[in-house]
Amino acid sequence: MLQRCFAVTKGHLSKYRLLANELTPAASLEANEIILNIDRFAFTANNMTYAHAGGPPLNYWHFYDKLANDKTLGIIPVWGFATVALSRNSNIAEGSRHYGFYPMASSVKFNPSKADVPSFTVTRDDPELAAMYNTYLNTASDPFYTTSSCENNMMIFRPLFLTSFFLNDYCWNQFRSSVDQIILTSASSKTAFALAFQLKQRGVKVIGLTSQRNVAFCETLSLYDSLYSYDQISEIPSNTTKTVVVDMARSHDVNLAIDKHFAKHIVQNVGVGMTHNTVLSGDKTALSEHAQITRTFFFAPAWIKRRIAEDASIMETAAASYVKFTATSDENQWLDFNTDMTVEEVYAASESNSVNPNTGLITKVEP
Ligand SMILES: NC(=O)c1ccc[n+]([C@@H]2O[C@H](COP(=O)([O-])OP(=O)(O)OC[C@H]3O[C@@H](n4cnc5c(N)ncnc54)[C@H](OP(=O)(O)O)[C@@H]3O)[C@@H](O)[C@H]2O)c1
Repeated sequence: MLQRCFAVTKGHLSKYRLLANELTPAASLEANEIILNIDRFAFTANNMTYAHAGGPPLNYWHFYDKLANDKTLGIIPVWGFATVALSRNSNIAEGSRHYGFYPMASSVKFNPSKADVPSFTVTRDDPELAAMYNTYLNTASDPFYTTSSCENNMMIFRPLFLTSFFLNDYCWNQFRSSVDQIILTSASSKTAFALAFQLKQRGVKVIGLTSQRNVAFCETLSLYDSLYSYDQISEIPSNTTKTVVVDMARSHDVNLAIDKHFAKHIVQNVGVGMTHNTVLSGDKTALSEHAQITRTFFFAPAWIKRRIAEDASIMETAAASYVKFTATSDENQWLDFNTDMTVEEVYAASESNSVNPNTGLITKVEP
């Protein structure tokens, strides 16, 4: 059985190649092992961030490094659906479909550490990797999975919406009444506008910052109280208002401009994403002293783990909120799913930032 993998060159992400590995033939599959054929997966800036953050401290390369068999190459993880092709595990039926965190590949072999009918869990070689990425959910019993028509939304929005749900929870937990407005950078990103959707329901004033070319898209969402392009930061009124920044862009220039404009009125700059990738992870030295002091990093898996331990029912609330959000997105046609592009085309468009923000890229994997 041939396993095709899409590998990128670490540190030179515009370079990529397709690899072909020989997977264990059915006859020699070990007890407990399974092989899944990966059917479809989504690709957004979040996946590019996995590649930018492939090394320490987040180590996203460690999930599927071994498939590349070459230390200079990395396999980017993606959220998608796969079907069990072969199973030597009595709790995992051949033909069952599972949603989860897969490699950019045509198939994958796992040796689950835990398996029951609703889900199975794998143990990664690197125990430091967040456990949230290790569970694969059977579509037959997943409460997020309603009908097959929900799949596109699920591949794109589930990880991003859950991040925004817990960011909203974090902001409420940390700032509640001590903040008057929240600024979101990369306002056109799905994680940002899903957060704006929830902050709007809280009645918090939300300002979106985006590229000039994406202002029009953000306006169509009607989720931001006001919108500015990155070169208009100095024009934002009320620069003496207590402000929290939720930073999806990690742009050095944008962070400095915000800091200069709002100065000590920035309560906290919550670093979430790195769509622009110009302030390196962990490197705060290039920012002004004030920006260094106020900047924290929000890592969704860590906050989710903490909040589930505190409130066992919070995932049910998240699921209900996700259903409401995706229904609103469908109704307003916030995303147009493009399922026609090859893996190479999807990757090249994402890497070069030439994807329209209203496009949800889904790749069908050739067997
Ligand atoms: N910390 C966490 O736990 C966590 C969890 C989930 C997601 N995130 C992060 O949130 C961010 C947003 O992810 P997403 O999947 O929601 O993004 P997305 O919807 O794919 O965002 C697309 C937008 O990102 C900006 N962008 C993308 N590529 C760019 C490039 N090469 N140069 C400049 N701008 C670029 C543009 O926005 P603008 O023009 O508006 O800037 C673009 O419209 C990612 O960095 C992701 O990793 C973090």
